[in-house]
Amino acid sequence: MRKLAAGNWKMNGVAASLAEVKALLAAHPDPVCEMLLCPPATLIAQMAWAAKGSVLKIGGQDCHPKAAGAHTGDISAAMLADAGAGHVILGHSERRADHGEGDALVQAKAQAAWAAGLVAVICVGETEAQRDGGQTLAVVGGQLAGSVPDGATAANTVIAYEPVWAIGTGRTPTLAEIAEVHGFLRAQLTARFGAEAAGMRLLYGGSVKPSNAVEIFAVPDVDGALVGGASLKAADFGAIVAALSAA
Ligand code: 13P
Repeated sequence: MRKLAAGNWKMNGVAASLAEVKALLAAHPDPVCEMLLCPPATLIAQMAWAAKGSVLKIGGQDCHPKAAGAHTGDISAAMLADAGAGHVILGHSERRADHGEGDALVQAKAQAAWAAGLVAVICVGETEAQRDGGQTLAVVGGQLAGSVPDGATAANTVIAYEPVWAIGTGRTPTLAEIAEVHGFLRAQLTARFGAEAAGMRLLYGGSVKPSNAVEIFAVPDVDGALVGGASLKAADFGAIVAALSAA
């Protein structure tokens, strides 16, 4: 399995930000791990152009479950692919919270992503209240079961565990807590998808930065990271890419 360093730029970045992509590729032209950046939709085509001929892969941050039609402001999976994306993040906690997205919708989006040839990066994660209430495994297990469609393979699906309370806060779970959730996710996937699950990448996301990447990547069943804030700067994301490549 090739590990994956994925960056989620969220609602950040304009054309001038592509300088970071050029700097990243200059410093890391051929890392051991796979590299993915998911910019806002407005930058996908330009970033894909900037990454042309390089190993950097480009992804979207969301797609609509339908292939086309009267859905003002939405973007289809085929449009992402047409713009140069090969991946799409789905069910991020910010979309679940800001847009009321539930598991059934995330699952429909994943099917739309596959139909367009995209890899679905499906996110799960508990809130702080859920963790404090001892519900972490029940919550992420439910999200995993409800959001990942039948037919998931190591090639078409990546799972990202992102505790909501660790996103953008500088706080992270203990390494034992990360190991517990990732081990649980692997077991759930194995129960459902059999041997295929061994090859499915399980990313950890939530305040990953150069200073904690090495220890997080040493945790069993952590096959990469989904990085928010630290993916915006080439130097920080590059250090995370280097840590994962060495893991
Ligand atoms: P931060 O790395 O900024 O905590 O964000 C994580 C995240 O939500 C990535 O999708």
